[in-house]
Amino acid sequence: MAALDDALPLLRCPTCGADLAREGGVVRCAAGHSFDVARQGYVSLLGGGRARAAPGDTPEMVAARERFLGSGHFQPLATALGDLLEHGFGGQGSIVDLGAGTGWYLANLLDRFPDATGLALDVSKPALRRAARAHPRAAAVGCDAWGPLPLRDHVAAAVLNVFAPRNASEIARVLAPDGAALVVTPGGRHLEELVRPLGLIGIDPDKQARLAGQLAVALDVVERRELSWRMRLDHDGALAAAAMGPSAFHVEPYRLDERVAKLPAQLDVTAAVTISLTRAAERRARPRAPAADASDPAHRRTRPGFRPNRSPGGRG
Ligand SMILES: C[S@@+](CC[C@H](N)C(=O)[O-])C[C@H]1O[C@@H](n2cnc3c(N)ncnc32)[C@H](O)[C@@H]1O
Ligand SMILES: [Zn+2]
Repeated sequence: MAALDDALPLLRCPTCGADLAREGGVVRCAAGHSFDVARQGYVSLLGGGRARAAPGDTPEMVAARERFLGSGHFQPLATALGDLLEHGFGGQGSIVDLGAGTGWYLANLLDRFPDATGLALDVSKPALRRAARAHPRAAAVGCDAWGPLPLRDHVAAAVLNVFAPRNASEIARVLAPDGAALVVTPGGRHLEELVRPLGLIGIDPDKQARLAGQLAVALDVVERRELSWRMRLDHDGALAAAAMGPSAFHVEPYRLDERVAKLPAQLDVTAAVTISLTRAAERRARPRAPAADASDPAHRRTRPGFRPNRSPGGRG
């Protein structure tokens, strides 16, 4: 509960926007809106967003993600995020992870920045259960990334958004004036060796253009880094990589098992991601939701003053 109590000053009631306080197992605002703290320590602040938010990742997807991340295959990404944040924020204040899943990246960053605290946001209950115990300095809160976030304005020293829904207007609203948001999306070659044999959903070739449009609504891209590395996966690793991603919504588990059984016992698989380091755009009217037609790259500006070092393992 200590991490949740530390996070309360950042939060706001999803119904009326008032401050929140905890009394035992309930978080409530002065107007009497109340939210139960789950046995696992997270609190769900759904209510201000869409009437019915999608449930997010299933228990099976979350378990696969926990297995895969625990094996360290994505450590190069966690390290690169830390390297970028070394220059992107002062190491103090709150790191908000939007679509945090198990909270693995957040926990990595909290280990690296001992004076920071963390807040994991996700809509999936199985994810929140994991995220609530990801790190002693991380709290976990349920919310819909597409709706207004239950966070007060300008409370996040840094925002993390890894392979998860992103609402640029809300990210910009919650960022501190000098805060940085790191947005990670899969590159075109991500898991390419698994896509065909396992029947996974490929990466949309327009993904980068769509991303630029989504971010440009309210965020300026300061630095964009392409990062790729190779992972040696056994069958369990290949299965977890497939089962933790969006393809799990489309491919029956028994089919995945059958297809994985036909793979070589060890397979070298590409991980390829784009990391966008962004800051809240200045002096620009911000619509509340991402605009569908905001893909004009002319909206994107680069801040010349920000020049982080390259981290080892980075490409391009
Ligand atoms: C692909 S997972 C990534 C999780 C984590 N960032 C990671 O990389 O390990 C996407 C996450 O976004 C969450 N999610 C999906 N829709 C959401 C929504 N509308 N609001 C909040 N979280 C959502 C899912 O539950 C899931 O945990
Ligand atoms: Zn309220």
